[in-house]
Amino acid sequence: MLAALSPDEFRALHEALARAGYHEQGLLDTLGPIEVPNLPGAELPHLLHLTRRGRPLDTLIRLFLLGVPVEAEALRSALAPLSQEACGELLEPAGDAVGARVRLMPFRGLVLAVDQPGGAGGAARADQVMGLTNSTISLANFTIRAPVRRALDLGTGCGIQAFLAARHSQEVTATDLSRRALEFAAFNAALNGCPGVRWLEGDGFDPVAGERFDLIVSNPPFAITPSCRWQYRDSGLPADEFAHRLLRRAPGMLEEGGCCQILCDWVQPAGRDWQERLTQWFEGSGCDAWVLRTATTEAGEYAHMWIRDTEHPTPEEAARLYDEWTTHYDRQGIQAVGTGVIALRRRSDSANWVRFDELPEGTGGEIGDAVLQGFRLRDFLAAKEDDAALLGETFRLSPDLRLQQQAEWSEGGWQIQSAQIRLVWGIRFAGNVDRNALTLLGRLDGRRTVRAALAEVAASAGVSPEAITPLCLTLLRLLIERGYVLPADWTAAPAAPQ
Ligand SMILES: C[S@@+](CC[C@H](N)C(=O)[O-])C[C@H]1O[C@@H](n2cnc3c(N)ncnc32)[C@H](O)[C@@H]1O
Repeated sequence: MLAALSPDEFRALHEALARAGYHEQGLLDTLGPIEVPNLPGAELPHLLHLTRRGRPLDTLIRLFLLGVPVEAEALRSALAPLSQEACGELLEPAGDAVGARVRLMPFRGLVLAVDQPGGAGGAARADQVMGLTNSTISLANFTIRAPVRRALDLGTGCGIQAFLAARHSQEVTATDLSRRALEFAAFNAALNGCPGVRWLEGDGFDPVAGERFDLIVSNPPFAITPSCRWQYRDSGLPADEFAHRLLRRAPGMLEEGGCCQILCDWVQPAGRDWQERLTQWFEGSGCDAWVLRTATTEAGEYAHMWIRDTEHPTPEEAARLYDEWTTHYDRQGIQAVGTGVIALRRRSDSANWVRFDELPEGTGGEIGDAVLQGFRLRDFLAAKEDDAALLGETFRLSPDLRLQQQAEWSEGGWQIQSAQIRLVWGIRFAGNVDRNALTLLGRLDGRRTVRAALAEVAASAGVSPEAITPLCLTLLRLLIERGYVLPADWTAAPAAPQ
């Protein structure tokens, strides 16, 4: 149970952290661009070296990030005027020193209390509230940040996705199976001055049955394990069934035009096309579905990673768990596991589509605007299914498009060997283009129609426009779908809530 601080004490704690520089930049300046390990072991001496100067920030980093007890006097001056007594169960005695029962993680202007990895005093609980992980950040980056009326965060944990959603939503509801998680989330709401989120306890969508949302986000217990050890990791359902059920139920919880964005792992079975399997999940859903795969992990490697990162086993335990997990995967025919982000958008005006992409290397930071743009470009293309309609349109290149060419010196000059286009914003798609495609791209200047551009491409290739039109239009549709090429009058402005 977390300490119930008074509003003044919450404010004092927030101010003490801010004054010391306990934010992302302060941590970066002190520790450099390192990933702080869950349980600092071999890294600890170096981390202590980096925080050796005795500033309030060093004290707070040691205590609240590294989980190392600090001297009571140093903590007193770091937290002043807030007393240690007022911090109640955030702190615990550790011999002559003071330890922290929670970890405080700064992220995007927030400071989030989560459980100390391994649990305070080393006794990890099944309902431990996990810290900010790669999955947390991936979902936060993937989420469309257009203004909406009602947002839902399912499996909120420390509340992070709900707080981020509150920045662009009129109302936010957050649910979790774990009461402990909701207590942490409520604590974090008070610490960060983010009131107004509705916190509900319960399984999956049950606490909000019968309601509808414009945005649903979820970073669920997605790991595919034979275990039921951690609530944040193991759903207790077989394989990827939790994600499957969530995606089947989400469409009925969405307003028309609303989006559900989840991060999850899915089974890639031996001898079966995984895309076909996932496509079945979306059949008859009334939603468009866009799957962006970020990784594929062979089953043995997958077992190894999760056991290493979440079990912290002795070598003997690691061997036993590895055997248990890989035997389970073999029996289930799980050859590999896909990881990615999936966006559903409820749309009933025409047939729905399913799209699969690999998240291109180099994609980083927030890509919600690019995801929204991807949906809007699909809508644009659906309205121009007829080639004649596309031929009459005008297009321009995305301002984020770059061309890279490789040339070889030969016969007294540089000969272009290959050309690649890539986006430097959003989802960083990249692809090779041939000479004709480059000529076409060069003609899409926002003034010529596609018909006029193709006539010029045909003339430069010495062929008739009819000969190249079908292939070029297929290419153009791909270029538009990926956002390399945009309608001439394209605007990036997201729709406001009605
Ligand atoms: C992977 S953590 C995500 C935490 C946080 N949303 C984030 O992005 O970092 C999954 C969360 O789902 C919760 N959870 C587990 N099973 C659930 C269920 N059946 N229904 C609702 N929430 C559940 C866990 O308690 C945990 O807080």
